[in-house]
Amino acid sequence: MAVDTHQAIRARRTIRDFEPRPIDRAVLDRILEAGLRAPMHDPKHGRRFIVVDDAAVRAELVRGFWRERPPEEIAAVVDSWELEFPEQRAMFLDALPKQASMVLSAGALVIVCFRQTEPLLDAKASLHELNAFAEVWSCLENILVAAAADGIFGVTKIPSSPAETQHIRRTLSIPDDYEVACYLPLGHPTSGAPSFAPAIGAVGSYVFRNSWGRVEP
Ligand SMILES: Cc1cc2nc3c(=O)[nH]c(=O)nc-3n(C[C@H](O)[C@H](O)[C@H](O)COP(=O)(O)O)c2cc1C
Repeated sequence: MAVDTHQAIRARRTIRDFEPRPIDRAVLDRILEAGLRAPMHDPKHGRRFIVVDDAAVRAELVRGFWRERPPEEIAAVVDSWELEFPEQRAMFLDALPKQASMVLSAGALVIVCFRQTEPLLDAKASLHELNAFAEVWSCLENILVAAAADGIFGVTKIPSSPAETQHIRRTLSIPDDYEVACYLPLGHPTSGAPSFAPAIGAVGSYVFRNSWGRVEP
C-alpha cells in the first residue's frame, strides 16, 4: 500500500533482520529510480547500483570484512567506544553480530557506487570537492524513504577500510574511477526485527532564528 511522503519518512528505520524472500524486480527498480531522482550537482558523478543476487558472490563480499567474534569480545569493543547514550550501546550490541548475516540474507543486496576521479580520502580544500560523495548520500536517502513506502527496509554498511573497498572492487570488477559508497541490504523485516531509531525530540530544539543559539520566543 502506498503511503504519503511524510509517513514514509517516519516509517523508515534501519533493519538488519530480513525475511527470506526476494524483492520484486519492478519494486526494486522503482526504489532505485527514486535514488536517481535525488539532487545531483554534476551528471558526470555517475551513480551505479550493482544488485548482487548470486549467493556465492555475496559470500565472497562478506569474506572481505567478516570475522566471527564471541559476544564478550564484541561487548568489550563497544564499551571501549565509551558511547554517550545507552541506546547506542544496545544498537551496536545488536548490530555488530549481524553485519554478515544482513548482507547474506537481504531480499536484495545493492552495492551503491559513484564516480570519483580524485582520491576521495585525500585532504580536500573545500566541501565542493566532496560533492559526489554528498550526492550519493542524498540518493541513498531517497532510496530508503521510497523503500519504506513499499514496506521495505534496509541498512547502509560503509566499507571500513581501503582494503575492504579494494576487495569489493575486485569481487565485482568495479573500475578504478568508481568509489563504493556502501553495501545496501534491503528486504522485508522479520516480525521481531528490532529498531533502534533514536528519538529526535521537538523540532524546535534544533532550530535557531536569525542567529546561532537564538530560539523561538
Ligand atoms: C553513514 C551511515 C553509516 C552507517 N553504517 C552502518 C554500518 O556499517 N552497519 C550497520 O549495521 N548500520 C550502519 N548504519 C545504520 C545506523 O546504525 C542507523 O542509521 C542508526 O542506528 C539510526 O537508526 P535508524 O536508521 O533506524 O534511524 C549507518 C548509518 C549511516 C547514516
